Amino acid sequence: MTKPAEMQKASLRWRRIGKRVVLVPTMGALHAGHAALIRRARELGDRVVVSSYVNPTQFNQDRDFREYPKRPSQDAKLAKRAGADVLFRPAQLYAPNASTWVEEKDQSQGRCGKYRPNHFRGVATVVTKLFGIVQPAVAVFGEKDLQQCEVVERLARDLFLPVRIVRHPILREQDGLAMSSRNLLLNPRQREIAGFWALSVRAAARKGSAGAKAHLQKLLHRVRGVKLEYAEVVGGHLCAAARVGPVRLIDNRKCGSK
Ligand code: PAJ
Repeated sequence: MTKPAEMQKASLRWRRIGKRVVLVPTMGALHAGHAALIRRARELGDRVVVSSYVNPTQFNQDRDFREYPKRPSQDAKLAKRAGADVLFRPAQLYAPNASTWVEEKDQSQGRCGKYRPNHFRGVATVVTKLFGIVQPAVAVFGEKDLQQCEVVERLARDLFLPVRIVRHPILREQDGLAMSSRNLLLNPRQREIAGFWALSVRAAARKGSAGAKAHLQKLLHRVRGVKLEYAEVVGGHLCAAARVGPVRLIDNRKCGSK
């Protein structure tokens, strides 16, 4: 399905007959992490909608937006296999003269918000649009993007949106790297470094809240090919972002955890 009006009509019809609609918003290039969210959505309701839309307003570099991976036919198969009823793939969610923005001004400060100006404004705006179109009773978000969960929860609360936000834990590759659509853009050497980055975040978090940040800085200091952007302990989690080659990686781990 590609037309917002059609999607909204289908959702309103489901709601009228008492079906609970669950939304999993994505930007496509689906992987096992997305599949886990879709399976969770299946358990939470009667109709599962997966949206796939590469939202231009949340990107900071035009190149990152243009090169964002796209795999439409694989996405359709993966979404269906994981339990989606509808894959909603709008072509455009912004009218040429769109002039309305949704800005969350507390949770979106710091961490990724500091390094990606207006990123969370783009996320909050598109998520509000998707909620308006799909009218979900529940929406599932991954804890890989922990700050995004915090922003969306605050947004739903502040605007009295009738949707329950459910978080889902991070899915990881065998070597511990958090699954991400952007991992497809890493060459073999960069992929290896990304694995080391993930292990470092885990090792640092084990040091506990007080020592995690310094330990991560120490571990990554001498490694060529990984550039730490930030490391911060927030709410007992070590949250960090780094650049490896063309890719920005983010991760978070509970401090003190094994
Ligand atoms: P995207 O990066 O495609 O992620 C879609 C959802 O999948 C998000 O909730 C994200 O946290 C979750 N996810 C991604 N990788 C995961 C992993 N390894 N384990 C668990 N969950 C994972 O996040 C976005 O798209 C966009 O910002 C969006 C919310 C769709 C708004 O445009």
